[in-house]
Formats: sequence, structure tokens, C-alpha cells
Amino acid sequence: MTVTIVGAQLGDEGKGGIVDVYGDAADVVVRYQGGDNAGHTVVHEGAEYKLSLVPSGAVRGTVGVLGNGCVVNPETLFDELDALGERGLDPDVRVAERAHVIFPYHRALDGIEEEAKSETDSEIGTTGRGIGPTYEDKAARRGIRVGDLLAPDVLRSKLERVVPPKRAVVEDVYGLAVDDLDDSAAFDVGTLYETYRDFGRRFAEADMVVNAGQFVTDALEAGRNVMFEGAQGTLIDIDHGNFPYVTSSNPTAGGAAVGAGVSPSVVGDGEIIGIVKGYLSRVGSGPMPTELGGVVGDTPGYDEQGEGGDEELATYIREEGGEYGTVTGRPRRVGWLDVPMLRHAARVSGFTGLAVNHLDVLAGLDEVRVGHSYTLDGEELFTMPATTERWAKCEANYRSFDGWVPFDSETVASEGYAALPENARAYLEYLSDELDTPVYCVGVGPGREQTVIREEVWE
Ligand code: GDP
Ligand code: IMO
Ligand code: MG
Repeated sequence: MTVTIVGAQLGDEGKGGIVDVYGDAADVVVRYQGGDNAGHTVVHEGAEYKLSLVPSGAVRGTVGVLGNGCVVNPETLFDELDALGERGLDPDVRVAERAHVIFPYHRALDGIEEEAKSETDSEIGTTGRGIGPTYEDKAARRGIRVGDLLAPDVLRSKLERVVPPKRAVVEDVYGLAVDDLDDSAAFDVGTLYETYRDFGRRFAEADMVVNAGQFVTDALEAGRNVMFEGAQGTLIDIDHGNFPYVTSSNPTAGGAAVGAGVSPSVVGDGEIIGIVKGYLSRVGSGPMPTELGGVVGDTPGYDEQGEGGDEELATYIREEGGEYGTVTGRPRRVGWLDVPMLRHAARVSGFTGLAVNHLDVLAGLDEVRVGHSYTLDGEELFTMPATTERWAKCEANYRSFDGWVPFDSETVASEGYAALPENARAYLEYLSDELDTPVYCVGVGPGREQTVIREEVWE
């Protein structure tokens, strides 16, 4: 059977931790989109692992697959594998022949385009990993795929075709000298060819490159359990998110079928778990109707650090929750739970269950609020408008819940759901009712022994 993990909000919901909890019984964990823009933290036997590209389950010896929907930076992948190797782990990771490769010129262009957009305050706040430019090349049908790295002649001829126009964009559109860039070799065909041919050799020697859809299908036919691990989240999905403040792939459940190379019925016949952070966090720009305070540079129109109740609360939650980017270290914007956003996420992906994390972070507050609905042009809305401009105009209508006192996370996790403070349960039950979806597990700390499990998802 299959279990699909989908971020219900804006990324960083704690997906890695839930993959870890439920991934134990999985034989194969497949990333179906994104690249090293993702940052997952997995705590295993007291050790913390921060992974961007290696699927979270690999820490426990599960086979990891980067599906065709991913964009792969081989340098990051091998660095992560080497670092895990130094810590005594030897993960079995396979990479789809059809996945597109992130080249240094993609990263350079990501930075140059963001810089240019910042002149008109229209930057996205990307992770700078070259994600958008790589998916652009895929859609434009000029991308280079992992399978091409194993065929040196093909690699060379594609680089010869692709790189000169990129160089021209830098020089003629942006008026920059390639030689002055931090990574001037990013646009040098000869250097790129040699480096990426060598990556191809390493892929081949380690026998890592597979026809991923077939590989996953074979595993399912052999009765194996397969987990599809989404990165990012629904609101940064290129179709269902708040365009243009999105990533360039589909983290929602439909993306699991396309990006892993299996039929939609394979995904639909399994469990689809929406991962929800008990409040809201956001990295980068774009609207956030339930935001508390703001982060200079990311919160639109917020030029100066303010003071007062909302700011204090935001700082408190940010510190308690460790809300700093796993990849970039940037402070994350924080706010109350946005329920119209979650209704949208549940509809798009068809969640069969929810994992609600970070309830420990909210413990100790007198009052916990949620944005229950929005008001837009005098009308009450229960789900999100489809345009970002209209979303930015939405005002949240709040509901208030009595807070809950701090509790010992491991004790609660071992005793089960009933051991959670009553007010925390009331909060969860409200959420479950609003989304018409059961709560499968509750995160009360970063470790997996700090997770209250109500439902075992594998048959
Ligand atoms: P992902 O990108 O969705 O996998 O999430 P990240 O790993 O980027 O961010 C989630 C952060 O919250 C990590 O530091 C986790 O260790 C941590 N975390 C996950 N679940 C919980 C939880 O229930 N409580 C607390 N306090 N931290 C959690
Ligand atoms: P995980 O898997 C949170 C955000 C960036 C930016 C936008 C586009 O850890 O949840 P990109 O580099 O993808 O072109 O950036 O998307 N973003 C994330 N935010 N969690 C992530 O991944 C993210 N991956 C990208 O901050 O706003
Ligand atoms: Mg993350």
C-alpha cells in the first residue's frame, strides 16, 4: 500500500518528522517533487539530521527514491550522502533517470533574477537553489536530465546548446559580466561537462539511476509499502498556492502520481496525510492574513521591527518553535492557524488523515487563536480566494481557544491521546471537524518519541 505525506500550509510543517514516525514500516520512500530547497529535520536516536535531498526515511535504512518530478543537484546529493556516511549511515538512494538536473547556472540565475526583482520589491524570497530556473528549463524542453549524465556525448551536446543562451541572458538582459560572478565557471561548457560527467560516473558506479516509476511499481507489486514524501506545502504549490510566491512544483497529492511515475489510483487508494503545524510559519514574501508581527524584508510593507503584543507573541512562538529556516537560517514569519487555508489544502489533496505538530510550542499561552474565516469585500469566506491579490485583502475572523499548560511530551506520547490537556484536545477536535478529517497523530516535540500516535496507517 501507499502513504502520501503532504504539507498543508507553507512548508516546514514537520513533514520530515512524520515521515520518520510512519516511515518505519515503509520499504521505500519516494520524494516526488522539489529539490534541495526542502529542509527536513529528523531526530533519530538522539542525533539530529538535516536533510535537503536525501529522503527522510533513508536515516533508518529505508530505500529512498528521488522521483522524476524532482530537480536534483548532484553536488548536494553526494555531499549529503558523504556526510551521512561519516556518521556511519549508508543510505540506499535511487534517482530517476527522468529527473532534471540543477546546474550551477540555474543557481546563478536564481540569484540574478531575485536581485533584479528586488529592485521593484517583487522578489519571491527563493531559497536560491536554482529550483525555478531548472523547472523553467524542463517546461521549455531544454532541461538536462539525470539519465543524460550517464551518456557523455548527449551531455556535451546538450550543454553546448543550452549554456550559450544562458550566458547571453546574464550579459545582454541583466547587463552583468559572467567573469565577475561569484561562480564564473557556472557558464563554462568545458568545466560543466567534466564535473557533471564525473557525477554521472559516480551515479553509475553506485548503480543509483533507475526508471523510478517502474522501480516503485515493482516494489508495490512485490507487496512492499511505499511512502510518497512531499516537500514544501500546498500554499507554495505552483498551481494551488499563492502564485507567484510559490515554488515551481506540485507538492499537493496529485503531484505524487505525476512525480513518482505511478497512476493516480495508486496514490488515491492509499492514505494521504496532511501535515499541519499547530500555528503558521512562512519563509519568504507573500500575504499571510493571520501573521503576528512581521519579519523585515519578507513581510510585505513591513519596513521596521515593531513592538507590542503581536510582536512579543511572534517572537515568543518563533523562539519556542525554533522557527528559523533549515536551509537558509532565515527567521520565519509566524501567525495563527489559518483554517480557510487548511480547508483549501484538504480539498485539493483529499486528506484521509491529519498530523498536527507543534502543540507543545503553543503550551503555556493563555489563549490560542485561529483564523476561522475571512472577510473580503464585506463577505465571509471559508476557503481561500484563487488570486493572491484578493487573498492579501482578506481579513481573518478569529476564534479563541483557552490555552493549555505545558506538559511532559514523552509521557503524553507514551500514554496516548487522552493524556493531552483537555484544551489541546478541544483545539484538535475543532480542526478535525472543520476539515472533516481525523487526526492521526499529534506532534508534541521534535523527536519521534514525542509524537502521539492515534492511528497506525499501514494495513
Ligand atoms: P519539514 O520541512 O516539513 O520537514 O519541517 P522542518 O524540519 O523544516 O521544520 C520543522 C521543525 O520543527 C524541525 O526543526 C522539527 O524538528 C521541528 N518539529 C517537528 N514537529 C515538532 C513538534 O511537534 N514540536 C516541536 N517543538 N518541534 C517540532
Ligand atoms: P520544506 O520541504 C518552506 C519557499 C521559499 C520561497 C518559495 C520559492 O522544508 O517544507 P524556491 O527556492 O522553491 O524557488 O522558493 O518557496 N520554499 C519553502 N518554504 N519550506 C520549504 O521546503 C520551502 N521550499 C521553498 O522560501 O518563498
Ligand atoms: Mg523544511
